[in-house]
Amino acid sequence: MTLPMVVPATDLPARVRIHEVGARDGLQNEKSSVPTDVKAEFIRRLADAGLTTIEATSFVHPKWVPQLADAEDLFPQVSDLPGVTLPVLVPNQRGLDRALALGARRIAVFASATESFAKANLNRTLDESLAVFDPVVRQAKDAGAHVRGYVSMCFGDPWEGAVPLHQVVRVCRALRDMGCDELSLGDTIGVATPGHVLELLSLLNEEGVPTNVIGVHFHDTYGQALANTYAALEHGVTTVDASAGGLGGCPYAKSATGNLATEDLVWMLQGLGIETGVDLGRLTATSVWMAGQLGRPSPSRTVRALSHQE
Ligand code: HMG
Ligand code: MG
Repeated sequence: MTLPMVVPATDLPARVRIHEVGARDGLQNEKSSVPTDVKAEFIRRLADAGLTTIEATSFVHPKWVPQLADAEDLFPQVSDLPGVTLPVLVPNQRGLDRALALGARRIAVFASATESFAKANLNRTLDESLAVFDPVVRQAKDAGAHVRGYVSMCFGDPWEGAVPLHQVVRVCRALRDMGCDELSLGDTIGVATPGHVLELLSLLNEEGVPTNVIGVHFHDTYGQALANTYAALEHGVTTVDASAGGLGGCPYAKSATGNLATEDLVWMLQGLGIETGVDLGRLTATSVWMAGQLGRPSPSRTVRALSHQE
């Protein structure tokens, strides 16, 4: 298999933790529901490829995201994978109760930097949604869980256009004040560019949010996800969200397409000499297998290049 020549960068992190979102962000957006057994096999294969943080599913309302309505069946099938943590999304108390009842120990709440998306995605105003999350985060922490706080629409919103940076900072700080261990800055519709990413990261630092609690979550609508990731790495970010094969999107944001493909990310990181623990060959084989299950080729450039060569 072709691999990039390794030319280490001196000013970048030595190691990056990939937060794999294919089974959640990827499959929530599929037109038809993927069978539970296939999802479990997908997660097992991702683990076998060396991914250690694999977002498994969401405990949301089954009518809002029918693709993930099998969370109760799926989670126990994969929860004992050795060395792997399986974050799950919860939108409210009901979701947290469902997740904790199954032994989930890594929880993610998902807020929005804009009113429009809070309404579309959570059926609440922004402040109402933060008020819902506050006791959920505290209770999850009391139960010993690690809590991630997503912030969507950090760089642009399909209804509101440009999103003022201070609005993003306000939501990030609110999630930190609740006790979120980690934040993930979502470019839900893929409009960010590297300077914008650096500006937001710097402002967050100035406002008391340190880089070591920040992850980045780029959708690749405009082909900027890898450039934005590089900018974030230069700033010192070491947690990067990506989706095997570039699956993904959000059913409540029309212009959201797939996430940064994990293979494209791993190719770049490997070339830069940055450790991820991921075996690119196994990961690519997993995405080729999943593309077969979904009946269409992966949008990842790296998956296409590597699978054509074999
Ligand atoms: P709602 O209709 O306002 O809910 O939806 P409600 O609180 O009024 O409750 C209505 C009924 O739903 C009640 O049942 C509740 O018990 C039930 P009833 O008493 O009528 O029989 N219910 C639930 N049932 C199961 N599980 C639950 C749950 N909650 C309430 N958790 C709600 C509000 C938040 C539930 C809904 O809007 C929802 O589920 N939204 C989820 C949307 C979603 O999953 N979006 C995709 C994930 S976010 C994303 O992709 C972005 C990200 O990738 C980052 C980025 O890219 O930016 C993370
Ligand atoms: Mg997303």
